[in-house]
Amino acid sequence: MGFRDDFVWGAATSSYQIEGAVREDGKGEHIWDVFTKEPGHVYGDHTGETACDHYHRFREDVKIMKEMGLKAYRFSIDWSRVLPEGSGRVNEKGIAFYNALIDELLANGIEPYVTLYHWELPYELYKKGGWMNRDIAEWFGGYAKLVAERFSDRVKYFFTLNEPQCFVGLGFLSGVHAPGVKAPLRDTFEMAHNAMRAHGRAVQMLRQYAKQPLVIGYAPTASVAYPDSDKTEDIEAARQLFFEIPEDVRNWTWNVAWWSDPVLLGHYPEEGLMRFAPYLPKITDEDMKLISEPIDIYGQNIYNGRSVRMGADGKPEFVKRWEGFPRTAIDWPVTPEVLYWGPKFLYERYQRPIYITENGISCHDVISLDGKVHDPNRIDFLARYLHELKRAAGEVDVRGYFQWSLMDNFEWASGYSERFGLVYVDYPTQKRIFKDSAYWYRDVIKNNGANI
Ligand code: NOJ
Repeated sequence: MGFRDDFVWGAATSSYQIEGAVREDGKGEHIWDVFTKEPGHVYGDHTGETACDHYHRFREDVKIMKEMGLKAYRFSIDWSRVLPEGSGRVNEKGIAFYNALIDELLANGIEPYVTLYHWELPYELYKKGGWMNRDIAEWFGGYAKLVAERFSDRVKYFFTLNEPQCFVGLGFLSGVHAPGVKAPLRDTFEMAHNAMRAHGRAVQMLRQYAKQPLVIGYAPTASVAYPDSDKTEDIEAARQLFFEIPEDVRNWTWNVAWWSDPVLLGHYPEEGLMRFAPYLPKITDEDMKLISEPIDIYGQNIYNGRSVRMGADGKPEFVKRWEGFPRTAIDWPVTPEVLYWGPKFLYERYQRPIYITENGISCHDVISLDGKVHDPNRIDFLARYLHELKRAAGEVDVRGYFQWSLMDNFEWASGYSERFGLVYVDYPTQKRIFKDSAYWYRDVIKNNGANI
C-alpha cells in the first residue's frame, strides 16, 4: 500500500514571502509591511519589499513548477493587495495579478490551492483592533466573499487560516513576528477565538458565493508527540500528550486540541476550558456554531515533534533527545516519525481527509563551483519524512503533500538567512536554480512515491 493514485504532490509558498512589489499597483499595507520597516525585528533588517520578485516573475515560476511536475501549488492571496483597507474598496489590479497567476497555473495543468490568510493582516484593520475586534469575522468574511466571486470559477480548493498558532503566539505573545506585540494572555485567547470565528465566517461566505462546489480546509500546525517505541503504552502516552492542554498557560498557543477541536468537533477541550478559565472571553453557542461550520479537508503544517513514552508513574513523559541529535540549519530537530504519527493521531480524532500543507527543511545551500546547488541533506530529510507519510497514507486518508517551499524566500524574522526552497533563489540576480532536491522530488512525483 502506498499513496493513492490521485495523490496531490505539491509545493507551497505565501504572498509576502515571495511576491515583492509591496508598493505596486495599489496594494495596501499590512502588518508585515509596517513591521519590517522598523529596524531590529528581522535578521539583517531584511524586508519582503522585493523578496523573490514573484509578482513580476510568476510566469517563469509556474514554468519551474511545471518542469518539476507539480500537480498542485499552494499559495496565498495578500488580503491587502485585493482590499487595500481590508474591507470596502476593491483593488482591481491586485485581482488581475491573482487572475493571471491562476490562469497560468491552469494552463500548465497545475491545480491551485489558495490560502486566504498567511499572516498579511491589512494595517487599516489592525488599527481598528485587528483580531481583538469581533468585527474581524465580518471583515474576513467579506474578503472571502470577494475571493469566491472572483476566483472560485477556477479555484476549487481553499484553506482559510495558515498556522493560527503562529500568528497569535508569535505575533501577539512573544512578539517575534508582526506586529511585534506582547499582549496580555487574556487578549491572545480572545484573538484566537475571533480568528476561529473569522475562519467559520469565511467558510460560509466561500460556499455562499462559490461558482462551483468547493473543497475547503483549515491549515493549523502541530508539533507532533510520537511514541518512543511501538509498545501500546508508549503509543497511548504520545496520543495523550499530543492533544494535552499545557500545564503552563504561557505555552497555550502551541496546542493542537485548542485550535482544532472547536473547528472540527464544535467545542473547546474541557480541560482547557477549566485551566484557562480566568483568561477566556465570552464564548457563546452561536460562536461555536460559526466556528464549526463544516469543512471538507484538514490541512496540517508538520515539521517536527518530540518522542514520548509512558513514565514509571503512569504519566506520559517526553524523552530527552540524545547529544548530536540531527538538526536543520534553522536548528529544528529532524524527526521523520511525525509524518506517520501526526496524520494517524489527527485522523483518529478528527476524521477528515488530511493534507500535509507544509513540510520541509532549511539548509545551508550554496551555489557550488560547478554552478549547481547540491543539497543532500534536504533529499535525505524528504526521503525519510515521505517514507513515514507513505506508511500513514496506507492506513488513514491522506490526500496530499505540499513541500515547503517551492523556492527560497523571506523566512519572517529570519529574513533571507534561511533557505527552505527546492529551487535556489540568487537574490542579487533573481536567478532561480534547481537544487538537486528539486530533480529528486520530480522523480518522486513521477513515480507517485513508489521509490520512497
Ligand atoms: C510555517 C509558515 O507557514 C511558513 O510561512 C514558514 O516559512 C515555514 N513554516 C517555515 O518556517
